[in-house]
Amino acid sequence: MYSQSTVIAGGLAHIPVIIGVFSFIQKFFSKRASNFPQDTEPKKSPVKPVEQKSAPNTAPVAKVTPNTVTKKKHADVPVNIYRPKTPYEGTVIENYSLLKEGAIGRVNHITFDLKDSDPFLNYVEGQSIGIMPAGEDANGKPHKLRLYSIASTRHGDDFNGNTVSLCVRQLQYEKDGETINGVCSTYLCDIKPGDKVKITGPVGKEMLLPEEEDANIVMLATGTGIAPMRAYLRRMFEPTEKEKNKWNFKGKAWLFMGAPKSANLLYEEDLQRYLTDNPENFKYTKAISREQQNTKGGRMYIQDRVLESANELFNMIEDEKTHIYLCGLKGMEPGIDEAMTKAAEEKGLNWSELRPQLKKAGRWHVETY
Ligand code: FAD
Ligand code: A2P
Repeated sequence: MYSQSTVIAGGLAHIPVIIGVFSFIQKFFSKRASNFPQDTEPKKSPVKPVEQKSAPNTAPVAKVTPNTVTKKKHADVPVNIYRPKTPYEGTVIENYSLLKEGAIGRVNHITFDLKDSDPFLNYVEGQSIGIMPAGEDANGKPHKLRLYSIASTRHGDDFNGNTVSLCVRQLQYEKDGETINGVCSTYLCDIKPGDKVKITGPVGKEMLLPEEEDANIVMLATGTGIAPMRAYLRRMFEPTEKEKNKWNFKGKAWLFMGAPKSANLLYEEDLQRYLTDNPENFKYTKAISREQQNTKGGRMYIQDRVLESANELFNMIEDEKTHIYLCGLKGMEPGIDEAMTKAAEEKGLNWSELRPQLKKAGRWHVETY
């Protein structure tokens, strides 16, 4: 029927089609891989090491070197694997109070199972997830999502890499003589193991840890602002976590923690254990507002503690390897700013110039709410 030359010509004519099909298949699979990096893999962090600048540690901070490499590095941190239209329904594994007898309010540690998520909902330390509370708002619309800082490392509390944990305070306030309970925080504090919860995310690149093992990490937290810090400290000091992550933290970690009462201190036993095991690498300073007083006789806040430690703190900040993380009440920001201004003055530095430089260098990290 066909001559040999017709068959050859016909075959050649199909080559572009075959190439097209192959290239489509290749593109499809490489897109899936980049959309859903399975970096719960304990062996390899998505963030590659940054080369250290050669500037001496004593360099004046007025000349902070912008760390542009850090910005680029975060490109492969997972974000928005699940969105509000198609959230992942995670199962509650546990939900327990973090407070001791006599504490104020309600703060819970809540863990969700992620193992059935497909694509897998992976995350790194310092990110947040969204929670969509069950039910409807006053207009009959589904409730909007609320963000919560992730309190676990990427390996999860059980180190198997398929859970995520949160640290949630129930919002409660008085209005016209009535107690109002926050919608999502109450929903989360009330849920029981086995319940299904709509989860979105992960989101956020502001609070990521640097990859350098010799970085110094200063943490300023109030209340549930401890959540990301808990993940950082587990990554640094929890023995099983360290085996998994192969990240041998060699820098100094300094946590300033604000709580209203001793009974409200969160994750205190773990923090004390890290102190005992790592006295050279971990410092922990508490401001217990309703049990301690500042020099003016007022409530002791973390900014008062910052002022007390101004010299030591600014010696650390002068080191290019130092990152500062601020998380918790939005209301603490002006107080921290004021304290940093005074502390900087004592060292002959100008905080209003320094802070934007630290921010630009990727060393000043703030997540308040
Ligand atoms: P809602 O029902 O949404 O009520 C909140 C509203 O109540 C406010 O918008 C305000 O209009 C009103 N309101 C609040 N207080 C008062 C008052 N005193 N008087 C009058 N009106 C008032 N929370 C945590 O517990 N843990 C976390 O780790 C955490 N991480 C977060 C991370 C990020 C990035 C962000 C943005 C927020 C985070 N939050 C966290 C806060 C969380 O997202 C919710 O905002 C919080 O739980 C309250 O939500 P809700 O649904 O319970 O309250
Ligand atoms: P207080 O409530 O005694 O005024 P929690 O979230 O568990 O309530 O903890 C928040 C902590 O932060 C409390 O000790 C609270 O003190 C404290 N705090 C409240 N306002 C500020 C502020 N503007 N700056 C710093 N800390 C604050």
